[in-house]
Amino acid sequence: MAWTGFWGLPAGLLLLLPLLQPQPLTEGPLVFVAVVFRHGDRAPLASYPTDPHKEAIAAVWPRGLGQLTGEGVRQQLELGRFLRSRYEAFLSPEYRREEVYVRSTDFDRTLESAQANLAGLFPEAAPGRPEAAWRPIPVHTVPITEDKLLRFPMRSCPRYHELLREATEAAEYQTALEGWTDFLTHLENVTGLLLVGEPLRRAWKVLDTLICQQAHGLPLPSWASPKVLRTLAQISALDIGAHVGPPRAAEKAQLTGGILLDAILANFSRAQHLGLPLKMVMYSAHDSTLLALQGALGLYDGHTPPYAACLGFEFRRCLGDPDEDAGNVTISLFYRNDSTGLPLPLSLPGCPGACPLARFRQLTAPARPPAHGVPCHGSHEPATPAATVVPLLAGAVAVLTALSVGLGLLAWRPSCLRAWGGPV
Ligand SMILES: *[C@@H]1O[C@H](CO)[C@@H](O)[C@H](O)[C@H]1NC(C)=O
Ligand SMILES: *[C@@H]1O[C@H](CO)[C@@H](O)[C@H](O)[C@H]1NC(C)=O
Ligand SMILES: *[C@@H]1O[C@H](CO)[C@@H](O)[C@H](O)[C@H]1NC(C)=O
Ligand SMILES: *[C@@H]1O[C@H](CO)[C@@H](O)[C@H](O)[C@H]1NC(C)=O
Repeated sequence: MAWTGFWGLPAGLLLLLPLLQPQPLTEGPLVFVAVVFRHGDRAPLASYPTDPHKEAIAAVWPRGLGQLTGEGVRQQLELGRFLRSRYEAFLSPEYRREEVYVRSTDFDRTLESAQANLAGLFPEAAPGRPEAAWRPIPVHTVPITEDKLLRFPMRSCPRYHELLREATEAAEYQTALEGWTDFLTHLENVTGLLLVGEPLRRAWKVLDTLICQQAHGLPLPSWASPKVLRTLAQISALDIGAHVGPPRAAEKAQLTGGILLDAILANFSRAQHLGLPLKMVMYSAHDSTLLALQGALGLYDGHTPPYAACLGFEFRRCLGDPDEDAGNVTISLFYRNDSTGLPLPLSLPGCPGACPLARFRQLTAPARPPAHGVPCHGSHEPATPAATVVPLLAGAVAVLTALSVGLGLLAWRPSCLRAWGGPV
C-alpha cells in the first residue's frame, strides 16, 4: 500500500494515520500501459429517406457507409506517432510480439484504424518504409457476436434492459423527452423517419449523417440549422446518459465498460504475476466503448468522444521501490480528444492524481463484474473462482465464457449485441 512506509513511524503518529493522505505518491517508472481508442473519421452509418445527398454518398465515400476515410487513416497515423513519442523510452524501438498486444473489434473501420495507428507507432510498419524493411503488425480480433470485451451485450441482457427502463422511466428523462416531442415530430416530417416514441438512437443517427456530410463539404438541407444540430446533440447526450450514467451507473458498468476495465487490470496483474515482458495493450474500438469505459470510471461528462479519441491507463511503480507488488503501483489516466494539445490528465473520482493500484481497484470494484459472474440474467450465473491476483484473469475468462455459453443459447442477431443500436 502507498502508506506502508508509515508503519515505521512512532506510535503517537500512527494514531494520526487515518488523517494522513496517502497522496501524493512520487511517480516512478512506467511499467505498463493500456490504451483504448475510437476509430478515425468514417462515412455516415446511414442515410435517411429525404436525404438530398443520397446520390453523392458513393462519390464522397466510395468505400461505403460506415467505412474509414482517408482522413480517418491520417488521424490514426497521427495518434500512433503521438504514442511513439510518449513511449519512446518505454517501448522497444521495433515491435516485439511479447511486448505489445493489439485487439480490435471485428469492424473494417476499427481494424484499419488499428493498423494505421501501428504504422505511426512502429517504424518498420510506417508508410514509405523501403520495401525490404517494411513489416505489418498483427491485430487480433474475435467475431462481432463473440466480442464481450469491446462491444457489450446490452440488447440481449435482460438485466441491462431493466436498468435502462428504470433510467428512461425516470421523471427527469421523461420531462426532457416531452420537451422534445415537437422537435422530433418536425424532424420526422423533414427526414421521413419515424422518430417519436422510437429509440433516441435514431435521432442520433440523423445527427451523425449530417455531421459526416458537413465535414466532407456537402451542404446541409435548410432545416438542419446549427440549432437543430445542437438539439440533436442534447438528445443524444440524454440517451448516452441513460445508458452509462445514473441511476445505478455502477451496475450498468458491470455489464458494459466494467468488463473492459476489469480486463485491463487483469492484463496488468497477469503480466506482473507471471513476470511477462508485456508492456502495452491497445484496444481499437468505438465511441460506445469509450463512453462505457468512462461510465465505469465515473468520468462520463456529456461529451461524445471524437474520432481517434484515446483513453490511456499508465501504470507506474512508486519511486525507490524494487518490489513487484501491485500495492506499490499507481495508475494515471489520460484522455486525448484533441490532437492539437497535450492529452488531458484525468483523475478517478475519489483518487486525485496518480492513484495507488489497490485504491483504484477498491474504488472501481462496484463498476467491475463481481467474481461470481456478470449478473446479466439475475442470480442464475454460474459461480467462478474468487478473484485474487492470478485467478483474476482466469476469473474474467470464466465470466466471459459463462456469459458466452449462457447467451449463446439465445439466437443472437448482430443487432442484439449492439451497444445502444451499434458501436459507431
Ligand atoms: C411534411 O409536411 C408537409 C405539410 O404538412 C407535407 O406536405 C409533406 O409531405 C411532409 N413530408 C414528409 C416527408 O412527411
Ligand atoms: C487481456 O485481457 C483480455 C480479456 O481477458 C484477454 O482476452 C487478452 O488475451 C489479454 N491480453 C493479454 C496480452 O494478456
Ligand atoms: C512496497 O514498497 C515497500 C518499500 O518501499 C516495501 O517495504 C513493501 O513491501 C512494498 N509492498 C507493499 C505491498 O507495500
Ligand atoms: C475533450 O474532453 C474534455 C473533457 O471531457 C472536454 O471538456 C472537451 O470539450 C473535449 N474536447 C473535444 C475537442 O472534444
